[in-house]
Amino acid sequence: MHVPVLLDEAIRLLDPQPGENFIDATIGGGGHAEKLISRIGTEGKLLGIDWDEEQIRRLKEEWREKTNVILTAANYKNLENIIKQYNFAPPDGILFDLGFGLHTLEVSGKGFSFQKDEPLIMRYGGDEGPTAREILNTASEAELERIFREYGDERYSENIAHAVAVERKRKQIERTADLVRIIGEAIPRFLGRRGINPATRTFQALRIAVNDEFGNIKKGVSAAIRVLAKNGRIVVITFHSGEDRVAKEIFKKASEEKTLEILTKHVIRPGRAEVLRNRASRSAKLRAGIKK
Ligand SMILES: C[S@@+](CC[C@H](N)C(=O)[O-])C[C@H]1O[C@@H](n2cnc3c(N)ncnc32)[C@H](O)[C@@H]1O
Repeated sequence: MHVPVLLDEAIRLLDPQPGENFIDATIGGGGHAEKLISRIGTEGKLLGIDWDEEQIRRLKEEWREKTNVILTAANYKNLENIIKQYNFAPPDGILFDLGFGLHTLEVSGKGFSFQKDEPLIMRYGGDEGPTAREILNTASEAELERIFREYGDERYSENIAHAVAVERKRKQIERTADLVRIIGEAIPRFLGRRGINPATRTFQALRIAVNDEFGNIKKGVSAAIRVLAKNGRIVVITFHSGEDRVAKEIFKKASEEKTLEILTKHVIRPGRAEVLRNRASRSAKLRAGIKK
């Protein structure tokens, strides 16, 4: 079960009131949304989005009695169209919780986890764009290096990109286990023994590239600021430095254009107690703003 991250902080900053309209752009297991729904009451409305159809199907079943909730399987980058499609009034608050659904990692069978031997697909939803396998076997060595560095903050991006380019001439790279082995052989030995698994950053980078995650965040969060009602609130929770850089830039630009007042001069991080309770929260950062 997914444990919602920075739940109290997100709710405090979104400040939902009875009768208001909210959007949860990444509804996932519905942890944050449940709290929002209890605050806005039956007079309020919630629009929940997730591009993982399975999560939406499960929530529809679980919440079939909640008549003030709309659930849709879609990419939040199309937020403006989704709002039009459902004739949803300008929202009083929008939440983006960009973390990675544990559910996807464990059960999708699409190669998100380096701990399982699966085909390298890594698409969250739909069948747009190249799979991880296609990127690994066709992108130039320079492009792979950029992906691993920019999206994974991988310091051995050159070594890994080179190892991939050599290996794929011999045999196409098809499965997670192949990639884990290539990474293990490409980087200095001692790194495999402590700290995070040496494959972590490369897997993260590929996932971001396959799903155009930074492009989605740019489009989705910018659209959210545009559609918010006056004095409406936005909260964005990120889970690694790349995501946070994108969110920070959009907030900064909107603040310069005087469309958003930033409510978090310093990002909010989970306290020690939350990290002890839920290790997945350790890298979370929360930014919030209010529409002008
Ligand atoms: C950390 S989970 C959200 C958890 C949720 N807040 C909860 O409390 O259960 C992030 C979710 O965002 C979804 N997601 C990621 N990128 C998306 C996108 N571009 N459009 C729609 N959903 C997306 C994932 O499928 C995942 O379910």
